[in-house]
Amino acid sequence: MSVRVLDVWKEYVMGTTSTLALRGVTLEVRAGEFVAITGPSGSGKSTLTYLISALDVPTKGKVEVDGTVVSELNEGQRSAWRRRNVGMIFQFFHLLPTLTALENVMFSMELAGIRGDLRSRALEFLDFVGLREKANRFPFELSGGEQQRVAIARAISMDPKIVVADEPTAFLDRENKLKVMELLRKVNERGKTVIFTTHDLELAAFAERRVRLVDGQVAGEERSGRAR
Ligand SMILES: Nc1ncnc2c1ncn2[C@@H]1O[C@H](COP(=O)(O)OP(=O)(O)O)[C@@H](O)[C@H]1O
Ligand SMILES: [Mg+2]
Repeated sequence: MSVRVLDVWKEYVMGTTSTLALRGVTLEVRAGEFVAITGPSGSGKSTLTYLISALDVPTKGKVEVDGTVVSELNEGQRSAWRRRNVGMIFQFFHLLPTLTALENVMFSMELAGIRGDLRSRALEFLDFVGLREKANRFPFELSGGEQQRVAIARAISMDPKIVVADEPTAFLDRENKLKVMELLRKVNERGKTVIFTTHDLELAAFAERRVRLVDGQVAGEERSGRAR
């Protein structure tokens, strides 16, 4: 699933003040690519991921994902599109606290309209992230790293072509940061387009391409030589 961000601007208005979070960003990500969005805090990384995942719309410009101009959909259309097409992973995991790991994964499959034996498929995704034996635990019974791995299982459970992760490792220790990055790499190897943000260059190195944002603009781009 390719992503095309064309001259995108995003202004947040709060009362009498406004912030230009993105100022003319153009970015293309081809299907199956593994891309890191880097840059200092406040540079617009999260904003860009919200626009790519159609959580929000730009003030100006166009966002197209796999041929759908998501920036022109209304809110209802965007959430319907998102549930089926985007696996999202956030800093704070955002698991539903009253559901077990297994139920969290099954719930997002239900929302995506997937039919069939959800339980056994959800278990396979938990197995993929190494948590099958903890399937019946609630989020509070899991470590931060484990919760994020459940969130990864959930993100891929409805078979999205694109996975968008906003600072997925921000609140993890180094060992878990690396584990999460390895899993994102495995997700990418399963054929999914993966876009993640980070301000950590060691983690950005996992991606095959790094796009650097500064003050809401693309300030540079770099490819790694990793054989793929
Ligand atoms: N909902 C919002 N309302 C107002 N300003 C916001 C909002 N979200 C982000 N901003 C501002 O937009 C700029 C970019 O923020 P963000 O996209 O979160 O950057 P990053 O993720 O790189 O830290 C910052 O100046 C931030 O304060
Ligand atoms: Mg951010």
